[in-house]
Amino acid sequence: MIRVSAPGKVYLCGEHAVVYGKHGICASISMRTRVSVESSDEFIIESFSGVSRGHPSKLYPYVAGAIKKIENLCEITPVKITISSEIPPASGLGSSASVTVATIKALSKMFGVELEKEEIARMAHEVEKEVQGSASRTDTYVSTFGGVLMLPEGEKLPVPNTSIIIAFTGVTSSTKELVASVRRLRERHPKVIDGVMEVIDSIAILVKERLKEGDLLSIGELMNINQGLLDSIGVSTEQISSIVYRARSSGAYGAKITGAGGGGSVVILSPSENSEKILNEIKPLCKEVFLTSIDTQGVREE
Ligand code: MEV
Repeated sequence: MIRVSAPGKVYLCGEHAVVYGKHGICASISMRTRVSVESSDEFIIESFSGVSRGHPSKLYPYVAGAIKKIENLCEITPVKITISSEIPPASGLGSSASVTVATIKALSKMFGVELEKEEIARMAHEVEKEVQGSASRTDTYVSTFGGVLMLPEGEKLPVPNTSIIIAFTGVTSSTKELVASVRRLRERHPKVIDGVMEVIDSIAILVKERLKEGDLLSIGELMNINQGLLDSIGVSTEQISSIVYRARSSGAYGAKITGAGGGGSVVILSPSENSEKILNEIKPLCKEVFLTSIDTQGVREE
């Protein structure tokens, strides 16, 4: 049996601005999707959302897309694929990217195809585009390579020594619609929104410098400023604001939306001694909370 896992991700800063070619910084997190592959008499895909027999599978479009990618490279025989994940689906944490990346790597190992990480990231991005209609490279790239990465270049940055708390609101939102709503706002107020995107870009450039210095206080402050700007373009919600303010008043370095907003998740940077308090304070405001850290490995064989 082949076992592979791949991580989810958060945006330390820069979501929405990256759509306009600005900088952003993402980090992969120690919340993983695990995929195991073994020989079988028929194609079986199994996870918490159910069992699917036969091929290709409508129930698992990302897995079906990954199978197709490997089929294009070599002859394959039926397999049983078992998926488990610590990343809630549709939470803004890159769960579909992690499933796709892990499945491509697991199948490539199973059928003896050597794939560089660059190829895994490219193939996984193609699968996401096929399933969703459009997708940015970010989620699949960060899940494959791991660590802290500056976008769009993919430059590896130092990994800060900090706890990361994730607050999942339980509200799922459409990235496509949120990106479209920001675009409409920009059409109405181009100078203002371009100005906001420029400031988010300069935040990302400063966060990169502060990461090199290990200055977590400043990174937290910059994340808070980034949250204010995300609020200004209409992608925050009352629930997100409550979580963000509660986390900050309980001792976080910084707290902000991660991803498209409109629900999804909040990322909180926290000194480890304050994590427990923050978790307890924000719990009543969220669907789920997770104490995690930054992952440095990306996709890996277990
Ligand atoms: C969504 O996770 C991040 C956005 O910047 C959209 C994208 O980059 O594709 C809002």
